[in-house]
Amino acid sequence: MSWSRRSREDADTSAEGARPERVVDTGTFRELMSGFPSGVAVVTTVDDDGAPRGMTCTSLCSVGLRPPSLLVCLDDRSGTLSAVVSRAAFAVNLLHTRGRRAADLFGAPGPGRFADVDWEPVGPHGLPRLVSDAHATAACRVVRTMPGGDHTVVLGAVEQVIAAREPRPLLYGRRRYAQWPAS
Ligand SMILES: Cc1cc2nc3c(=O)[nH]c(=O)nc-3n(C[C@H](O)[C@H](O)[C@H](O)COP(=O)(O)O)c2cc1C
Repeated sequence: MSWSRRSREDADTSAEGARPERVVDTGTFRELMSGFPSGVAVVTTVDDDGAPRGMTCTSLCSVGLRPPSLLVCLDDRSGTLSAVVSRAAFAVNLLHTRGRRAADLFGAPGPGRFADVDWEPVGPHGLPRLVSDAHATAACRVVRTMPGGDHTVVLGAVEQVIAAREPRPLLYGRRRYAQWPAS
């Protein structure tokens, strides 16, 4: 599959200029996807200097079972993406309802994100696990990356899962956070 690279906002021709492409405007697309709620993850890794990196991510989905694999879509401007590609490994921290503060912290630019959360390194790469905010952490090896417009699709094979006792995932949809209902 090859996806043409497009300018960031509403281009109506392909990057090559060869043939016009018909696409909806970004507002329509955002509205569409806001009606598709998801869980909330913080994707973490370690950069070339050994520093932890991480960002909030809702573009996460399961891909297949053999091997167990998932994908995340990360903005091409993201420092976390560069570190993920360089390390060829990342962790997906699935937030629980009390992880809302971490979602905000890792979802906006700012230094010292890791100074404000409880985390520990896991696996051979020392990938950051958000101990207090995640109900599960999956350590992944990067299998492949693929351009996806202004984002990069990162396919990861899941090598380790650490699950904690907190059954209620944090949710995001219609541009706001929500809680999984108590059973
Ligand atoms: C709820 C929520 C979901 C987000 N989902 C994504 C996502 O799926 N992919 C992405 O590239 N950015 C996503 N972001 C934005 C990044 O978390 C944000 O741009 C972050 O500051 C990037 O950090 P970095 O540049 O240090 O890597 C999301 C933000 C929020 C608040």
